[in-house]
Amino acid sequence: MMKIILATRNAHKVEEMQQLLPDLELLSLPDDAPDPEETGATFLENARIKALSAAQHTGLPALADDSGICIDALGGAPGVHSARWVSEENWIPEVLKKLDGKVGSERSARYVCVLSLMAPDGTILAESEGTFEGRIAGEPRGNNGFGYDPIFLVEPDYAQTVGEISTEEKHARSHRGVAARRLYENLH
Ligand code: IMP
Repeated sequence: MMKIILATRNAHKVEEMQQLLPDLELLSLPDDAPDPEETGATFLENARIKALSAAQHTGLPALADDSGICIDALGGAPGVHSARWVSEENWIPEVLKKLDGKVGSERSARYVCVLSLMAPDGTILAESEGTFEGRIAGEPRGNNGFGYDPIFLVEPDYAQTVGEISTEEKHARSHRGVAARRLYENLH
């Protein structure tokens, strides 16, 4: 089994990636690894920055996930800045405030996940992307998942948020699930 460093300190991402990639031996990022600045303008650039930094530090291939939520009414924001545009407790209130007065398809959004698996010398071993279409709910519902999941309504009927569906259902449909399955295909 290929030993791979998972280049993230986000515990939710670690948990989801371990469930999604059971055939890879995913090792956690060592405590002394640097936290590179995510200066990229795209998910792919940021995924590569994180993967390369972790691979160079450890001497092992590293897999990075860069992801976020893109809201059409906000011109695709917060996008690559989803983790940092406001403090974490304000992620959901801020989105709801900015979408006040918008209804139906005016609340369309998508999650995007880009994965990059890189060798210590910078060789790209595999990359993939997944998206998950939805709409922003009027108020948060459900405790499953993390981040924006309580306000992300799942298509096609937009009846439930990701916070209300099971982990299995999230994996079957989510941006990270799609990207993980594509990564496997690219690796084989
Ligand atoms: P990154 O660590 O810079 O890639 O930031 C990713 C951010 O996007 C997370 O901290 C969340 O705010 C958001 N995000 C990404 N994937 C998900 C998800 O599956 N559910 C909810 N929020 C997510």
